[in-house]
Amino acid sequence: MDKLMITGGEPLRGEVRISGAKNSALPILAATLLASEPVTVCNLPHLHDITTMLELLRRMGVELVIDEKLNVEIDAGTIKQLVAPYELVKTMRASILVLGPMVAHFGEAEVSLPGGCAIGSRPVDLHIQGLRAMGADVVVEAGYIRAKSNGRLKGARIFFDTVTVTGTENILMAATLAEGQSIIENAAREPEVVDLAECLIAMGADISGHGTDTITVNGVEKLHGCKFPVVADRIETGTYLTAVAATRGKIKVKNTNPRILDAVLQKLEEAGAHITTGDDWIELDMKGQRPKAINITTAPYPAFPTDMQAQFSAMNAVSEGVSILKETIFENRFMHMQEMIRMGAKINIDANTAVVEGVERLQAAPVMATDLRASASLVIAALVADGDTVIDRIYHIDRGYECIEEKLQLLGARIKRIPG
Ligand code: UD1
Repeated sequence: MDKLMITGGEPLRGEVRISGAKNSALPILAATLLASEPVTVCNLPHLHDITTMLELLRRMGVELVIDEKLNVEIDAGTIKQLVAPYELVKTMRASILVLGPMVAHFGEAEVSLPGGCAIGSRPVDLHIQGLRAMGADVVVEAGYIRAKSNGRLKGARIFFDTVTVTGTENILMAATLAEGQSIIENAAREPEVVDLAECLIAMGADISGHGTDTITVNGVEKLHGCKFPVVADRIETGTYLTAVAATRGKIKVKNTNPRILDAVLQKLEEAGAHITTGDDWIELDMKGQRPKAINITTAPYPAFPTDMQAQFSAMNAVSEGVSILKETIFENRFMHMQEMIRMGAKINIDANTAVVEGVERLQAAPVMATDLRASASLVIAALVADGDTVIDRIYHIDRGYECIEEKLQLLGARIKRIPG
């Protein structure tokens, strides 16, 4: 297993280009299963999760053509098997996103249950309920979700009692080919849901209200091909900004979208960052100052994202003052803090609340990544630690950060991969 070695202490300075959003690319790749013609997806990030989704489509017999820029043309018409097997689903929960499109287009799907994961139980009951409301016959047996539809799915009113991102996406995709109108209430408003809706519209879907909590879909008989670039990754953007703020540096982040980062930018400003934005760039300058401790509470978009909580805990660990972090989305998402405590962070955890007393510097220690965003937070902690930190189980970071060593090296970080 590869490890990362980071020698801390340097303020990061320079420019970085942001990749396409993983969490937008995954549902969009799944959405290509809805079309009756080939769809080309562009600006895909080069990541393990994307490879897993492409592998999943390939296993179903779907023909893919990939060019050197990682633009992928997908022809769902070539599908042979309507099954998402356990070996792939267990490595990536987002595989569940093929469920809605397969039932809606081909009338049938068999998708392995994703099972547990490091950050909490993460059930998929709301995905199943939504499909049942649209007339699908869904049974869960032998670890698989087996869904069937007798003819087209039927439009329905679907109310989610918890805001779910992939749940909203699954039902939104299914509704595009259903007969009649569907109304999704308490829908997720995340920019990745909006990006998916825009892609579906480019394929000929009739959708309105995306980006609000009520999405209306008038089902159509067929969707056609299109060429669609995925939006910039707001979490990758936020991760670099936070890393630079923690190290008291200066950065220009390019190829990004500042309009979908309000909550994160506001908190970084509270921490003392000087931020300027343009149409597709963000500049952050700490002017050499130590960040100030800031409180955060995670919640669905447009509030502060749970996927940025770990990175902010690393920054708070070395900030001036005491901060309170509340995690309201996942019940077990503080595992990175135990590792940071081993690096000298002063953190008290009580259920879903953590109190962080900022220290001047952390000390290097061997640490272990437990999930994707936790690994990013340990990279930040290592960047502000004295000495050489070795981060184990770094495969988590390769699921969600394209070329992280190269990008950080360009910012002046001393980081190298130790192949394992
Ligand atoms: C997506 C993101 C993930 C992010 C999360 C929250 C992708 C591929 N992943 O995950 O990076 O951290 O949103 O912003 O886009 N829930 C249920 N029943 C369900 C579905 C969800 O109870 O059927 C609960 C979950 O346990 C959790 C909450 O709803 O407490 C939100 O989860 P959800 O938005 O579904 O997360 P994901 O879509 O899996």
